[in-house]
Amino acid sequence: MLFTQTFGVSTAHISVAGVIVCLILFTLQRFLTLRLRRTGRERKASIAISKEKDKVKTDLPYLLQFPPSRRHVLATLPGFEKVDVQAITPEMLKSQALPTVTTPDFDKDGFYTPTGFSTQDIKALGRFPDYAALSGVRDPNPVPETWDITKAKFRPYRPFRWGYHQHMALMKYDPDWWVELTSSYHTTMATRRALLAQHGSKIFFQNPCASHASRELMEMVLSFLCNRYPQHFSLSSDQTLFHNHLLCTTTHLLQTDPLQVLFDNVPEDYAIMMRNETDGLYYLRAAIVCSSVGWYASQHRDAPLKSIHTHVPDYESKMAFSMDRWFSKLSTESPVSRCSWGLEDWEAFHTSPDPDRSVSGDTMEWTRSAFKGREDEVTVKDIKLRCDAQTLRRMPVSGAVVFNFKAIFWDLEELREEKYVPRLLAKVLKEGKRELMEYKCEEHVRQVAVRACEQWAEEQVEKGWVSREWEVGTLEESPFFPGWEGKWRGEQGF
Ligand SMILES: *[C@@H]1O[C@H](CO)[C@@H](O)[C@H](O)[C@H]1NC(C)=O
Repeated sequence: MLFTQTFGVSTAHISVAGVIVCLILFTLQRFLTLRLRRTGRERKASIAISKEKDKVKTDLPYLLQFPPSRRHVLATLPGFEKVDVQAITPEMLKSQALPTVTTPDFDKDGFYTPTGFSTQDIKALGRFPDYAALSGVRDPNPVPETWDITKAKFRPYRPFRWGYHQHMALMKYDPDWWVELTSSYHTTMATRRALLAQHGSKIFFQNPCASHASRELMEMVLSFLCNRYPQHFSLSSDQTLFHNHLLCTTTHLLQTDPLQVLFDNVPEDYAIMMRNETDGLYYLRAAIVCSSVGWYASQHRDAPLKSIHTHVPDYESKMAFSMDRWFSKLSTESPVSRCSWGLEDWEAFHTSPDPDRSVSGDTMEWTRSAFKGREDEVTVKDIKLRCDAQTLRRMPVSGAVVFNFKAIFWDLEELREEKYVPRLLAKVLKEGKRELMEYKCEEHVRQVAVRACEQWAEEQVEKGWVSREWEVGTLEESPFFPGWEGKWRGEQGF
């Protein structure tokens, strides 16, 4: 009982933890598919190799495992035509790694990031290099001219999955949607400012080793904003001033901490994971996380992936290996997105664990429901669908891995008019794995939601929208639903 009240069950944990769980499932699935594709002979050969590997397996299997490098792209950039782009060997990357465990010295030549860029390269690239070329991910298209931020809405994520493809949790990353601005921009920014004033380094921290990664992230995000929303953001021609025409602010980029620049302008959360050169694993080194429910980002400061997920059942025994491997290889040009969800009886954006009710060192009690003690009063009108939309990408130069995510809320009642969605959600809530449903919502919320969804599903059958014979399964349009785009555009008038 106590455990269910600790930070382990929060929705926002699902935001980071859920990412991981689904990445793991994804990895396992891919792994299995690849295995099946292999011919018998190849399989025998691979078994022989893996036996060999087992023999030489050390305690640090990732020490010489580096992500794919795109340093060769340098030769295509102006001023770098003559650069020697020979691949750097893993041994060299290891022995000459820019440290994360001690403070790195970017003025010393001959040190390398995990993606093979040297300290000289970093200096020569300067500020705002061509990140589309370096990363292999194109710049976003500008929003349509008729797009109006005062009417803009998040796309209606309904990431419910059922059936065979349940594990396919990852969505195709669309370079137009790395950061999504809506009419909630001003209120979200104000909420974030208030949270920072209240919680400070609990929700915003960075280690010295992350300074280069933070600057790279900031430059990539500002470039994105200027390309995607040119009417709202611009950079001075020397790229030292960033103008935010929504907040009517100008930021001096040479005088402002890069993560602060992000915090002040972008309504998204960020977590930066960096490779530890002494074990090859990824550790949380910098974070701005406002949308956490029942936990603080700083609880995971400097933690490796593995210990961020101690509460995930079977993580250590079954998942840690695949996950670490997936991280170690994630390429710069293949970011991923996903979306996790939960149901709440209020708009739970941020809830801190209450230190006064601390049970022991790191187990803090918190209240998930807004109806504690009177759960039977909850009606469908109180229930919100919370989605945590996330992307995960490797930055090209620093090689750091960045999560960005945001919490989005909808009234559950919006689902009533969305074809197929109520029936699908009812199925998931009723028949989904119990432990998982407990993460996603409290029991009193689940019961109210199931009743409502079943009623709406029946209405849809009666209206002829959905056949009674429909065998419930993940929708082809997932994470959206049939007809979503027309409805969504209609509401915004473009
Ligand atoms: C880096 O990895 C080593 C070996 O696992 C570990 O002892 C050390 O604490 C890690 N360093 C940091 C700063 O997390």
